Amino acid sequence: MKGKFITFEGIDGCGKTTQIKLLKEYLFKKGYNILVLREPGGTKVGEKIRDILLDKDNFIFPMTEMLLYASSRAQLVSEKIIPALQKGKIVIADRFVDSSYVYQGYARELGIETVKVVNEIATIGILPDITIYIDITPEEAMKRRGKREADRLEKESMEFHEKVREGYVKLIKQHPERFVIIDGMQEISKVHQCIITVIKKYL
Ligand SMILES: Nc1ncnc2c1ncn2[C@@H]1O[C@H](COP(=O)(O)OP(=O)(O)OP(=O)(O)O)[C@@H](O)[C@H]1O
Ligand SMILES: [Mg+2]
Repeated sequence: MKGKFITFEGIDGCGKTTQIKLLKEYLFKKGYNILVLREPGGTKVGEKIRDILLDKDNFIFPMTEMLLYASSRAQLVSEKIIPALQKGKIVIADRFVDSSYVYQGYARELGIETVKVVNEIATIGILPDITIYIDITPEEAMKRRGKREADRLEKESMEFHEKVREGYVKLIKQHPERFVIIDGMQEISKVHQCIITVIKKYL
């Protein structure tokens, strides 16, 4: 496909949304045609699934959780990602399939293989060209999330977030060709500079 598919990954509060906004502004000024999407969500149906997933009053089994994420993703791929890439756009996604490997496969212990089988069907095998992983400690992430009210996933324990980070480290070792690790402990503008340096090489 003509376009480029960039995804952002990392633990809750690492700075994904902040950095995507800055990257979008940067690429927009350079004249690129950009589409920013978030997961779960990004489509009308997907946003409804998002509400179910993030509602802190919902008790959701790990398998249900994984399938709901995959449903939202299937909709996003067919409705938004493929058409945009065919038009030559740069698609930037706030989380994608790697989040399922790490959160549901690893941290919730459903197993990477189960997540892989479901997600290969859901995404029709589409993978990002490049995945920016913003690395920060769970302690720093908690500080940054600060006083805002925690959603269902953010209410998880520090050990859970530690396990998610561990999951990312393992996943990145398996796919070094696609991942770029960015030190997210730096100030916002420095993180942005690092990301631009990387993205420039790919476009
Ligand atoms: N490098 C940074 N240094 C200090 N604070 C930061 C940095 N990056 C982001 N923040 C702040 O941390 C908070 C969380 O950032 P942001 O919402 O971008 O993270 P996120 O990865 O999108 O989180 P979530 O996974 O919950 O959506 C925000 O208040 C943001 O302003
Ligand atoms: Mg965010």
